[in-house]
Amino acid sequence: GAPIEVDLTPIAQGQDIKVFWRGQPIYIMNRTPKQVEEARNTPLSDLKDPQTDQARTKEGHENWLVVVGICTHLGCIPIAHEGNYDGFFCPCHGSQYDTSGRIRQGPAPLNLPVPPYQFVSDSKIQIG
Ligand code: FES
Repeated sequence: GAPIEVDLTPIAQGQDIKVFWRGQPIYIMNRTPKQVEEARNTPLSDLKDPQTDQARTKEGHENWLVVVGICTHLGCIPIAHEGNYDGFFCPCHGSQYDTSGRIRQGPAPLNLPVPPYQFVSDSKIQIG
């Protein structure tokens, strides 16, 4: 599939949208400062699939989280802004992801993947 461009201006802080790229749902979340802080203050030792929030986001655009919305357990679509970690909750078997899309609880083995993307301006990204 071809790369897609997504305008971020309609996504208010604390909200998210879902777009499709290569047939996959992609969540784009405009995180609040509190959500960013939670993601960054989590010790790696608390994580099943240890990755820093810095490694999963773009410098200078720390509020934006872009992840593939496919649960790494058996492929259900997690719900955003749900669950104990204010990130994503998978209704199929209860996996819980944090505000960085990292797996925190439940049977999923891995974090939600970050697709290849880049900022083409302050308010627009290209995915793919
Ligand atoms: Fe998400 Fe099983 S598919 S928890």
